[in-house]
Amino acid sequence: MAAGDAAAVLAIYQAGLETGQASFETRAPDWETFTAGKLPDHRHVAVDVQDRVLGWVAASRISARPVYAGVVEHSVYIHPAARGQGVGLTLLHALIASTEAAGIWTIQSGIFPENTASLRLHQRAGFRTVGTRERVGQHHGRWRDVVFIERRSPTIT
Ligand SMILES: CC(C)(COP(=O)(O)OP(=O)(O)OC[C@H]1O[C@@H](n2cnc3c(N)ncnc32)[C@H](O)[C@@H]1OP(=O)(O)O)[C@@H](O)C(=O)NCCC(=O)NCCS
Repeated sequence: MAAGDAAAVLAIYQAGLETGQASFETRAPDWETFTAGKLPDHRHVAVDVQDRVLGWVAASRISARPVYAGVVEHSVYIHPAARGQGVGLTLLHALIASTEAAGIWTIQSGIFPENTASLRLHQRAGFRTVGTRERVGQHHGRWRDVVFIERRSPTIT
């Protein structure tokens, strides 16, 4: 993911937010804010033959504490026209490969229970459900649960 992908990445992000099932966020931020916390080596885009961005994945540190140096939180968003074609799985595999190569041992995220596509995608990529956080935040004025998921790398021991 490079600065040249900014417009496409943010448009795909906004389209995902507008499903109402992707995140507590409702508006994609500007590029500067978006990239600020994202780890440079662990943000990837998938493109088609014409180099158009089909989707993206990106990870951020969860904490500055040394004990959590190998724990990241990620997001994955696919263009509405490219969903259900394996792009999400390809991107998660790219994230798993880049993070494991860098010694990162855990990838985590939260998913609304209603987001069955994302739950299935992450299950397919080897994530497990830790548990469901109940009414953990408000989204459009409604309390929502979040399913907390993680993938602990089997190769980093
Ligand atoms: C969730 C999302 C990232 C999935 O990506 P994707 O590229 O469509 O998923 P894939 O095509 O790689 O499919 C991966 C698995 O999920 C399943 N899946 C995909 N869409 C599905 C849907 N709408 N309902 C049920 N399962 C679905 C696929 O069948 C596949 O499982 P299988 O191999 O067992 O058949 C994508 O739908 C998206 O961008 N949604 C909006 C943003 C969002 O919700 N992001 C996640 C925030 S937690």
